[in-house]
Amino acid sequence: MRRKIVAGNWKMNKTFQEAEDLLAELADSLKEEQEYQDVEVIVCPPYLYVEMAHDLSSDEEDETQVYYSVGVQDVSEHDKGAYTGEVSAAMLSSMDVEYCIVGHSERRKYFGETDAQVARKVEQLLQNEITPIVCCGEQAEEREAGKQFEVIGRQLEDGLFGLKPLDFSRLIIAYEPVWAIGTGKTATPEQAQEIHAWIRNLIQEKYGKEIARVIPILYGGSCNAKTAKDLFAQPDIDGGLIGGASLNAEDFVAIINSFEK
Ligand code: PGA
Repeated sequence: MRRKIVAGNWKMNKTFQEAEDLLAELADSLKEEQEYQDVEVIVCPPYLYVEMAHDLSSDEEDETQVYYSVGVQDVSEHDKGAYTGEVSAAMLSSMDVEYCIVGHSERRKYFGETDAQVARKVEQLLQNEITPIVCCGEQAEEREAGKQFEVIGRQLEDGLFGLKPLDFSRLIIAYEPVWAIGTGKTATPEQAQEIHAWIRNLIQEKYGKEIARVIPILYGGSCNAKTAKDLFAQPDIDGGLIGGASLNAEDFVAIINSFEK
């Protein structure tokens, strides 16, 4: 059985007070829920709220009772030094951050992040014991031109396939069709499953059956409480990377509870 994972990507949303309210509500709801226990829940707020997110992530009296893990949305490709505004993997690790999103389409589009940078960021994270959640996915025009496999194949090849098998096996992959992100146009379960199975097959060709069998592949792009159930029921979809719907505790918890029992 593969791990089941739901990660919330807050993007650039929430003031300090709003973030505290959402985290507290989320922790409270997850405390009550028995159902989610076998799901790895990850919250990726803006960097500024990492310490608060960590403080609220477990029971005050019994810290072994953890409701969610803390991740972030990006990391520097450099290890330290004169890089104004950047945050290193070592800093994140020293703040107990466990996960980091890399190669999100918004970083690729607005900040020109390349596959070579994705590869360097992944390397930084792995060296610091942080699990990368690596995003891939095609744009609308690329799908219309039937180029989705080519695009995703290149992103994986150039960003990740330089890794040694043991390192590769520590990743989480997220398939996020760019046309589905923040648009309300979720991929159908069949569309997503087709790509997930294809990605898993590509991983099998490169790294073998065992690694392909265990690597979690999440779906992202307008995934919500209504669409999550059918998506998560697909054999190669192991959970979701959730943007908009992670900004509301009730919606996010409903998604966490969308796996087949
Ligand atoms: P969305 O974003 O759920 O708001 O579409 C997903 C993501 O970009 O990770």
